[in-house]
Amino acid sequence: MKILVTGGLGFIGSHTVVELQHKGYEVVIIDNLSNSTIEVLDGIAKITGIRPEFHQIDLRDKPAVIQFFKSQPDLQGVIHFAASKAVGESLQKPLLYYENNINTLVYILQQMQAHQISNFIFSSSCTVYGEPDKLPITEEETVKPALSPYGNTKQIGEEIIRDTTHAYPEMKAIALRYFNPIGAHPSAHIGELPNGVPQNLIPFVTQTAIGIREELSVFGDDYPTEDGTAIRDYIHVVDLAQSHVVAMERLLQNKNKSNYEIFNIGTGRGSSVMEIIKAFEKVNKVKLNYKIVDRRPGDVTAVWADTSLAASELGWQSKLTMEDALRDAWKWQQKLDEAEGNKV
Ligand code: UD1
Repeated sequence: MKILVTGGLGFIGSHTVVELQHKGYEVVIIDNLSNSTIEVLDGIAKITGIRPEFHQIDLRDKPAVIQFFKSQPDLQGVIHFAASKAVGESLQKPLLYYENNINTLVYILQQMQAHQISNFIFSSSCTVYGEPDKLPITEEETVKPALSPYGNTKQIGEEIIRDTTHAYPEMKAIALRYFNPIGAHPSAHIGELPNGVPQNLIPFVTQTAIGIREELSVFGDDYPTEDGTAIRDYIHVVDLAQSHVVAMERLLQNKNKSNYEIFNIGTGRGSSVMEIIKAFEKVNKVKLNYKIVDRRPGDVTAVWADTSLAASELGWQSKLTMEDALRDAWKWQQKLDEAEGNKV
C-alpha cells in the first residue's frame, strides 16, 4: 500500500511518515522544503531503517502536480499536510496563504479524482472553533468566523472537501482537527524546526531554556482561568501522527460511516501556560526565564477537546502525557544544539 504524504518533511508530516512505515506502508513524500530541511529524511531513515521516496515539488506548480500523479500509478491514499501555518504571517500575506493552502488542496483533489484515488486525510485545526461556547469542544461546536487568513484556509479547506466528497461519492475524506501539537520523536532524530523566532509556546520555551532566547513572554495572566494564563490541549506529536494512520486505515478498510468525517484530535485535557512552564522545569530539571506581558491579540481563553468521537469511531486516543512531550521536546532541542556546536 503506497501513501502520498505532502509536507512529509514537516513537523507533523515527518512523524506521520515514521508511523506509516512502522505499520508497513510504503510512503512517498512531496515537500517544497519551505519550512523543513532535506536532513529530515535522514532522521526518518535512522528511526525506521527505510529512506522514503522523496520529490521536491511545490504544490502550487500545477503542471508538476499533474506530472507527479501520472508517474505514481499505485497510490492508495493521500495525507495532505503541506500548508503554511503562521497565524501572524497570514495576516500580512493573506494571498500567499490562500495560494499555498487553497490552490494546492484543489490541485491535489483534482488529481485524486482524475486517478481514482479515493482516500484523503486533511490537516485541520481547532482554530476553526474560535472561542468555544462550551468546554470540552465537540465536533458539533459551531465553526466561528475565522480570526485570521490562516484559520480561514482551514475552514475553506474543510468546505472544499465537503463539496468534493458530496459531488463525487467515490471519494472519501477525513479531516482531523488538531489541538496543540508539541514534543518530538523520543529518539530525538526528528522534531520541530521553527523558522526564525518561534511563534508557538513550546519551541520558544526550549529555545529559552537552551539560551537562544533570553526570556519567554507569557501572554497574559488576567484570563478567567485558575492561574490567569490561557489554557490549551497539548498533544504529543507521536500520538497525533498515529491518529493519521488510524484514520487512513478506516478509509482503506471502508469502515467510514459517511464519505466525509471530522474528528477532534487532542488529549481531552487542558493545561495553562503556567502549568506548562512548571512542568517543563520539573521534568527537565531546568530553570526557565519568563515574564508576564500583555495578552497576544487573537488568542482565546481556553480550548480543549472532547475526544470521545475519535475514541469510539477511530478507536484512537492519546497515550503520551504532556510531561512526555516536554521531555522529548527538550531532548530534541539539546540535540539541535549539539549539531550546531559541531558545525562551529
Ligand atoms: C496557534 C494558532 C492556531 C494554530 C497553531 C499552530 C492562534 C490564535 N492560534 O495556536 O490556529 O493552529 O498555533 O501553529 O494563533 N504563548 C505564550 N508565549 C509565547 C507563545 C505562546 O504565552 O511565546 C501562549 C499563547 O498565548 C497561548 C499558548 O501559549 O495561550 C499556546 O500558544 P501557541 O503555541 O502559539 O498556540 P495557539 O495560539 O494555541
